[in-house]
Amino acid sequence: MNPQVLPAVLLVLSAVQAFQYQELVRYVDEHKEEYVETLRNWVAVESDSSNVQKRPDLHHMMGMVAQKLQLMGGTVKLVDIGEQELPDGQSLPLPQVVTVQFGRDPSKQTVCVYGHVDVQPAKLEDGWATDPFNLTDLNGNLYGRGASDNKAPVLAWIHAVEAYLALNMELPVNVKLVIEGMEETGSNGLDAMIMAQRDTFFSDVDYIVISDCGWLSRRPALTYGTRGNCYFFAEVEGPKQDLHSGVYGGTVIEPMTDLIGILDSLISPSGKILIPGIREAVAPLSDEEWKRYQDIEFDMDHYKNKTGVHQLMYNNKVDLLAHMWRYPTVSIHGIEGAFSDPGTKTVIPAKVTAKFSIRQVPDMDPAMVRKQVTEHLHSVFAKRKSPNKLKVTMVIGAKPWLSDTQNPLFEAGKAAVKRVFNMDPDLIREGGTIPIAKTFQDVTQKSIIMMPIGGFDDGLHSQNEKISRYNYIEGTKLFIAFLNEVSQIRKARV
Ligand SMILES: *[C@@H]1O[C@H](CO)[C@@H](O)[C@H](O)[C@H]1NC(C)=O
Ligand SMILES: *[C@@H]1O[C@H](CO)[C@@H](O)[C@H](O)[C@H]1NC(C)=O
Ligand SMILES: [Zn+2]
Repeated sequence: MNPQVLPAVLLVLSAVQAFQYQELVRYVDEHKEEYVETLRNWVAVESDSSNVQKRPDLHHMMGMVAQKLQLMGGTVKLVDIGEQELPDGQSLPLPQVVTVQFGRDPSKQTVCVYGHVDVQPAKLEDGWATDPFNLTDLNGNLYGRGASDNKAPVLAWIHAVEAYLALNMELPVNVKLVIEGMEETGSNGLDAMIMAQRDTFFSDVDYIVISDCGWLSRRPALTYGTRGNCYFFAEVEGPKQDLHSGVYGGTVIEPMTDLIGILDSLISPSGKILIPGIREAVAPLSDEEWKRYQDIEFDMDHYKNKTGVHQLMYNNKVDLLAHMWRYPTVSIHGIEGAFSDPGTKTVIPAKVTAKFSIRQVPDMDPAMVRKQVTEHLHSVFAKRKSPNKLKVTMVIGAKPWLSDTQNPLFEAGKAAVKRVFNMDPDLIREGGTIPIAKTFQDVTQKSIIMMPIGGFDDGLHSQNEKISRYNYIEGTKLFIAFLNEVSQIRKARV
């Protein structure tokens, strides 16, 4: 082609795209009430994956997802992922994973979106202002369990594809979706399913997108890292049964005292992890990272207000963000076997089990963390010369995920944000864990981007979870724009 005509051709091309984008946006705006109604129907299903009593609802939820995608003309599969072992030895079928494919043009890129439609438990009595399973529209916010995590984002992806199809516009890329129903309890069975389908469903996937997180402020964000998690049980067992503290107190060495003693050796009051080797494994903070954190929009006062504390562990933004995202931390969650009812029972518990976790960051290795924690606790325990028995087990070992923000996928994400919101996104990390990101990365070896549409104050896992209408609807437009931007990335294989 004559180089002189190239700019003209590009101009025409981009004019055509701009026109199409406007049409798609109009379609979304015209259908937003329908989108809210679909979200209402989805939120009404109590797809709580942690409660085995709700398993029928969860199966029903997966069926609803499959049906919606079938009606859109996608190639849908409900994939069996086996059974869940329950603590009492029984087993229960896991909810099937829904996979779907829209378009299979080998000359186009293929984007695979991951999402989940199971939710955390919720009860009105927990302190919800409205019925958590009856979507409530208040001041531009849609309140309901799972609204932001992750039902609305999954629907926004579906609606983005649906808009192209409804307008008879060719999808700019092939789109695949993988939607599961066990995310909130650790994505049981999903790793194996991804591994098993590596050379089939995932073989032609170029990029993976996850929208299972939120913005940090009112500014849209792209997420390039998550922390992992190593979850531990530390059990101290002593007398053969619970004892009366008046009768036996002072004569036996109490398991609870031992346990509290060793727990206090995990982290200092100022947040310094005391387990040898943990801090040494952490990748150092680079100048570039420091600079990036400095530029991020983040309101410390709002954060204090949101958490309801007047003093945080760090009093400057960079340290706080760094410790939220890229340094490990220890959290002590609870003690099983402890007397925790109201009142004053004078008991010496015979066996107590502490639960704590350490959020993982690069370059920590869960297998090494297991060893470090186990050895540390046993060594501290040994110094107590207690006759009680200590048992330390690591029950979850989820790795962190970190992406390179210079890659074309992030450029496409930035361009899409710019188009829809007319601003640059913040590049952020997540303190939480999305273990499946690491699995996708390891198994498919493809680039992953996290493109959240949830608001910073959506209250995931908390009371009064919500997503704003604005984020839900503009988020749908973001996904529409993103698919178009990805199609502009030169296909590496060609
Ligand atoms: C949901 O809430 C609305 C408004 O309070 C009420 O009219 C409706 O009956 C509720 N629906 C269900 C299924 O509880
Ligand atoms: C803190 O939050 C409360 C509501 O929880 C609000 O009324 C108050 O204005 C907030 N204060 C600041 C400084 O943001
Ligand atoms: Zn989620």
